Amino acid sequence: MEQLKNKIVDEGTVLSDTVLKVDSFLNHQIDPELMQEIGKEFTRRFEGEKITKILSIESSGIAPATMAGLYLGVPVIFARKRKSLTLTDHLYSSTVYSFTKKESNEISVSKDFLKKDDVVLLIDDFLANGQAVHGLVDIINKAEAKLAGVGIVIEKGFQAGGAEIREQGIRVESLAIVDSLENGEIRFRDEDPAQ
Ligand code: G4P
Repeated sequence: MEQLKNKIVDEGTVLSDTVLKVDSFLNHQIDPELMQEIGKEFTRRFEGEKITKILSIESSGIAPATMAGLYLGVPVIFARKRKSLTLTDHLYSSTVYSFTKKESNEISVSKDFLKKDDVVLLIDDFLANGQAVHGLVDIINKAEAKLAGVGIVIEKGFQAGGAEIREQGIRVESLAIVDSLENGEIRFRDEDPAQ
């Protein structure tokens, strides 16, 4: 997605060979117009999949997921990372380990919002090692719902998550794939120009 790649080049900061900071439009401040275009692009890519729910994870997945939900016309659920006062039992849960933060989080979704007959699109902001996606897929499997695919705003193609998830036969659509951040330079993977 050209508009997204331009934004990454204009506003992204390479913090190290592995970490890209995009706080000005995705992870802290949010650019609603860009999110709207991201929502339209996910909708275009997953049209015809008969999606009934979008599942994301707090916090940075929520904005792109909500915009995709708006255009697909379906509700958006986000997995919670912390125990909530009102979300106590009746939950599907999974454990997600973050290599970046070196901590495990228990993620949960209420059984009220994910049902057997749901066709679910997963959406998240970053795909790095894929731990968040694995946890969300585990929750979909526990609910016995169907997974339509995974939509990612920025995939770090030099980390293992994307390849591992695709090897499982899961469709992954990433709007920008960064193949290298070496020497402070952002290099994108060449994609089909139609995308
Ligand atoms: P994984 O889920 O793919 O395995 O990711 P990992 O454990 O490596 O990442 C943990 C957190 O760091 C996730 O956010 C993920 O989105 C984010 N992250 C990973 N690589 C980058 C990067 O290069 N740049 C930025 N900006 N973020 C990255 P989180 O903890 O769930 O945070 P949030 O959603 O509350 O913002």
